[in-house]
Amino acid sequence: MSCQCTNEPACRTRTPEQAEKYNELERYISTIPLEKVPDRKRGYLIQILHKAQHIFGYLPEDVQKYIAERLKISHAEVYGVISFYSYFTDKPVGRYKINVCIGTACFVKGAGKVLEEFKRRLNIKEGETSGDGKFFLGSLRCVGACSLAPVVMVNDRVYGNVTAEKVGEILKECTD
Ligand code: FES
Repeated sequence: MSCQCTNEPACRTRTPEQAEKYNELERYISTIPLEKVPDRKRGYLIQILHKAQHIFGYLPEDVQKYIAERLKISHAEVYGVISFYSYFTDKPVGRYKINVCIGTACFVKGAGKVLEEFKRRLNIKEGETSGDGKFFLGSLRCVGACSLAPVVMVNDRVYGNVTAEKVGEILKECTD
């Protein structure tokens, strides 16, 4: 499938792996009846951004521009949606997404200390990815496992009854 964008310089410098990701995104966009229901564009935009983040892992500027072009809307509109919804990110996210639950049950049982220990050991702030691209550190509000408080999620895996002392063990389990 040929690329649909007119962003020639960026397009020419894509690696084969990136090009395949753009092709996958394009295959998805081409299944959406964009022309038939133009007033649903915002809904389609969110749907496409979800797919793009799934494919690329995050939403870099080039991808935002590609989507804007395909929907015939401004880059500012695309960026506005990305910055409005906390689910979307325009920064690379580590392979291991660590999220500490700071909902009430977890917080009263020491989630704050757990979060601080992750920050200290990884030397990053909340919302950041480590320099080697391995770890992302974030927080969540109640993941529905309050009986296991404090709870930490690493990608889809749930760790319960986490203490600051257990943080090192959790990090050790994150092997490539
Ligand atoms: S508050 Fe953390 S799982 Fe409910």
